[in-house]
Amino acid sequence: MEMNSANVEAVVKQVLESMLSQPVSASAAAPAAGGAIPKTAHVAMLTALEHYDVKEFPMPEVGDGDILVKVEGCGVCGTDAHEFKRDPFGLIPVALGHEGTGEIVKMGKDVKVDSAGKPLKVGDKVVTCMIFKDNPDITMFDLNKQNVGGADVYGLLPDDDIHLNGWFSDYILIRKGSTVFNVSDLDLKSRILIEPCAVLIHAVERAKTTGILRFNSRVVVQGCGPIGLICIAILRTMGIENIVAVDGNQQRLDFAKRMGADNSVNFMNHKGIEALSGAVKEAFGGYEADFAFQCTGSPVAHANIYKFIRNGGGLCELGFFINGGDATINPHFDLCSKEITLVGSWVYTLRDYATTFDFLKRAKAIGLPMDDLITHEFPLEQINEAHVTNLKQEGLKIAIVNK
Ligand SMILES: NC(=O)c1ccc[n+]([C@@H]2O[C@H](COP(=O)([O-])OP(=O)(O)OC[C@H]3O[C@@H](n4cnc5c(N)ncnc54)[C@H](O)[C@@H]3O)[C@@H](O)[C@H]2O)c1
Ligand SMILES: [Zn+2]
Repeated sequence: MEMNSANVEAVVKQVLESMLSQPVSASAAAPAAGGAIPKTAHVAMLTALEHYDVKEFPMPEVGDGDILVKVEGCGVCGTDAHEFKRDPFGLIPVALGHEGTGEIVKMGKDVKVDSAGKPLKVGDKVVTCMIFKDNPDITMFDLNKQNVGGADVYGLLPDDDIHLNGWFSDYILIRKGSTVFNVSDLDLKSRILIEPCAVLIHAVERAKTTGILRFNSRVVVQGCGPIGLICIAILRTMGIENIVAVDGNQQRLDFAKRMGADNSVNFMNHKGIEALSGAVKEAFGGYEADFAFQCTGSPVAHANIYKFIRNGGGLCELGFFINGGDATINPHFDLCSKEITLVGSWVYTLRDYATTFDFLKRAKAIGLPMDDLITHEFPLEQINEAHVTNLKQEGLKIAIVNK
């Protein structure tokens, strides 16, 4: 999708102005185009630690600025896993699931376009992003703000009278003023992968700011979970071919090669950082890396990665979405004397979302096995099993898919 920022700004402002000037009236919603909307919806509500109940609620009224979406699927994210295990945000009872997508079945008369100005109609496929109820201009158009931390997101909202607040459900009500994108031109699996892919689009954009990541760079990707594998896919769509993947899981390293890594290094086969960095150098034909992406949540892995990078090289650290503890590095050897340029990356911007849609189309077009990242699909009723499977790290991306 082409996103012209000047146009987008104008359109969004226009939409917001019209929202603010017209009171919400529940009765004015346009009827669904096809298929009856059931009287009740089902929501997987985390009601206790490690326990979801699938609850039934009356289908809510659709206000003039609202969109009712029939949910097709939703990925299980690391954040859902944290909530399931420990509820660190104190949200229970909560309808989780933010990597979701579905089809518009009903929308209010005031809804005309998505957050990028693309027309919306019943039958279109959509995803949400962060919500900016209080000040939608923040982050999308404030170029000084680099990411969207602190904003609300469907799937992490507290429960309320409407209840349809998360994508682990069969229907979700997207409220007036929410960020929503029309992604009808992407297939279901691609749509489920949008949110994690946006994390890597942002990381690569951050990496590009160093000026070191180039067409023919040698790049190390450390950690081959979904995050590292998507990182490799993005580098491949950019034409970067000299990629070495590092992990301790051979199955994941094999997938990294299918995704486009040239070579791989299994750290289990190399004792000590000297041997490991030697193996990475060998995998590049005797060179150190120009650039490295750190995609594990391991402080040891953070400390190790400097040893793989050449003098004057670059590093993007994106592996710590949450606090994973301190890492020990030697500031003289690892940073100063090598003149490493280091960037951190966290979450994404709305602009990265639009780039992600293009990336997903390109990745498919050049034959990358993106679909295979979704290794397990569960129906909504088996959401507890889906989370247990996710915690066991038996697959890569686990998704709830409504049949
Ligand atoms: N920056 C962000 O906004 C953002 C967003 C989402 C996730 N993340 C972070 O990205 C990280 C990766 O996410 P994921 O879903 O791929 O996780 P994951 O746990 O599935 O994958 C991590 C991989 O790292 C490997 N690994 C562990 N220690 C290693 C080491 N010392 N050297 C090399 N490899 C090692 C593991 O074997 C595993 O395959 C997580 O820690 C998560 O917090 C960051
Ligand atoms: Zn997520």
